[in-house]
Amino acid sequence: MIEVNQLTKVFGTYPAVDHISFDASHGEIVGFLGPNGAGKTTTMRMLTGFIPPTSGEAKVAGFDVLKDSFEVRKRVGYLPETVPVYPDMTVYGYIKFWAELRGLRRPKRRVDEVIDMVQLTSRRNSLIRNLSKGMRQRLGLAQAVVHNPEVIILDEPTIGIDPQQVIEVRESVRALRQNHTVLFSTHILSEAEQVCDRVLIIHQGRIVAEGTPANLRRKLQPDPRLYVLIGGASHEKAITVLMGVQGVESVEPNGEGLTVHVRAGLDLRGEIAARITQAGYQLLELRPVAMTLEDIFLDIVGRMP
Ligand SMILES: Nc1ncnc2c1ncn2[C@@H]1O[C@H](COP(=O)(O)OP(=O)(O)O)[C@@H](O)[C@H]1O
Ligand SMILES: [Mg+2]
Repeated sequence: MIEVNQLTKVFGTYPAVDHISFDASHGEIVGFLGPNGAGKTTTMRMLTGFIPPTSGEAKVAGFDVLKDSFEVRKRVGYLPETVPVYPDMTVYGYIKFWAELRGLRRPKRRVDEVIDMVQLTSRRNSLIRNLSKGMRQRLGLAQAVVHNPEVIILDEPTIGIDPQQVIEVRESVRALRQNHTVLFSTHILSEAEQVCDRVLIIHQGRIVAEGTPANLRRKLQPDPRLYVLIGGASHEKAITVLMGVQGVESVEPNGEGLTVHVRAGLDLRGEIAARITQAGYQLLELRPVAMTLEDIFLDIVGRMP
């Protein structure tokens, strides 16, 4: 449904998107996971025909995004990073406006249907200016699907909205899965895991890892870390004790405390606590270090050939 081959966008001399290739098939939610500046929006704008690629090609629903951009637009729904707002339109008027722009002949029923799908029926006649950010985001989602496109491209649809609304937007996206191919971007690892069937990790314009959420998580966290704060011992002495625990791979100073790298799959918290106490020191703090997305990228990029 989406076929991307060596797609590239260079701004000036900067390759924002650098020879990326991937496919997405019917009924699949594919996540685009990457930090700010990774190239997610630029890729999506090329796929929706808003900007031309510098090189490479992309087909959406069988049509080339450059040569057949008119056909592509008919078959794609797009929720851009910033939803264009028309504050003085009503919810109904806005969706009807988009439906007509998309060429729907008698849009009334479909307009009400999508308003219902994003749970805005009770706000049907409200002005857009009076909607919360989350409601506007759902309105943008309704706009993107009103013409029942085969492919739906959603650019960070949960950014800047409150937690309850995040859940509602994610549910609306999951509900689209049956009949559409969805490309969904986010910079939040847990969100990609929850929403997507398959995740592409994009970093500096390149796809650096790809897989189902479950196998990515295994790939991504090869090296669990603990933060340990020990009283009564110098860093040097503490490191000697910690390195004596089987399964500890390395230890490095981290401010007042230490970061302990543990062999994948082991939980050494009990053993570490016991050894520190046995050595006559005090264990003041011991906790897993959550890897940030940035750590994960550095980890992956560092391991790339
Ligand atoms: N129109 C543009 N002109 C110049 N540089 C751009 C333009 N759009 C995006 N960029 C740059 O391309 C890179 C990728 O941006 P973007 O695709 O928006 O990333 P993301 O959506 O993943 O945050 C960034 O470094 C950004 O500054
Ligand atoms: Mg973006």
